[in-house]
Amino acid sequence: MPDERNELLFSVEGLAKAFAEKQVLRNVTFDVPHGAATVLIGPSSSGKSVLFKCLLGLMAPDGGRIAVEGRDRAALSGEELEALLDRVGVAFQQNALFDSMSCWENVAFRLLQRGSCSRKEARERAVEVIGRFGLRPEVADRFPAEISGGMQKRIALARAFVSNPRVLMLDAPTDGLDPIMTRHTNQHIRAAVEGGTTVFMITADMRAAQEFSDRLMMLYDGEIIWSGSTGEARQAEEPRLKQLLEGRSDGPIRMAVRA
Ligand SMILES: Nc1ncnc2c1ncn2[C@@H]1O[C@H](COP(=O)(O)OP(=O)(O)OP(=O)(O)O)[C@@H](O)[C@H]1O
Ligand SMILES: [Mg+2]
Repeated sequence: MPDERNELLFSVEGLAKAFAEKQVLRNVTFDVPHGAATVLIGPSSSGKSVLFKCLLGLMAPDGGRIAVEGRDRAALSGEELEALLDRVGVAFQQNALFDSMSCWENVAFRLLQRGSCSRKEARERAVEVIGRFGLRPEVADRFPAEISGGMQKRIALARAFVSNPRVLMLDAPTDGLDPIMTRHTNQHIRAAVEGGTTVFMITADMRAAQEFSDRLMMLYDGEIIWSGSTGEARQAEEPRLKQLLEGRSDGPIRMAVRA
């Protein structure tokens, strides 16, 4: 068994993706190491979620290369890709809960699909994990449409954590959560990293990005314009990175708003 800590989870080179004439990703190159929390930041609609979906194989890039643990993703068989995804807990920005399933069935989806435990055990596990995100057991039997947006977010997070995955891929995991729950969630993610889980996370919370990550990278104008350790980010002179981290409206990044 290879020592995952010495390997790269992802190695991405020259990734490109366009929608019609809109070139979202132009030339995206970066590595994501195992055994650390890598946080991707960037302005709104800079292509972070598109990149996330490309990494997961849910969206096909137009060009470039994605290697997963040293192997070209395009060359992996369906079975190999499935085995790989089986080790990854994923939470999407828009949650992507199944409307026709109760909350606990959503959380336990993977356990039920694998058939590795009984429905009763899967439900118990789901109730335990939603409790970690501050949700009471009675939420388990409700449907996604019957709970608030912040509760849906926490169900989606519980689904990502349910099988103690070796890798967590989280797109905006604290969007819409109150500051206390945001902090709690970030601490929970950090605890997973300390326990050896590899985390790749997207966030608009610049405080969390600096406090809970090991490595930071910034996507802007279709490219990774800065990457390095979180300590280096605090000292960095890159003006676009500084503007984003400080949340200033003046600077090289201009928002296209109509007067
Ligand atoms: N399926 C799609 N079809 C067409 N355009 C898309 C599609 N998905 C994303 N886009 C476009 O790609 C651009 C980047 O979107 P993306 O969701 O990756 O932004 P983001 O960086 O995640 O933003 P946010 O911080 O608001 O979540 C946007 O202009 C969006 O409209
Ligand atoms: Mg997004």
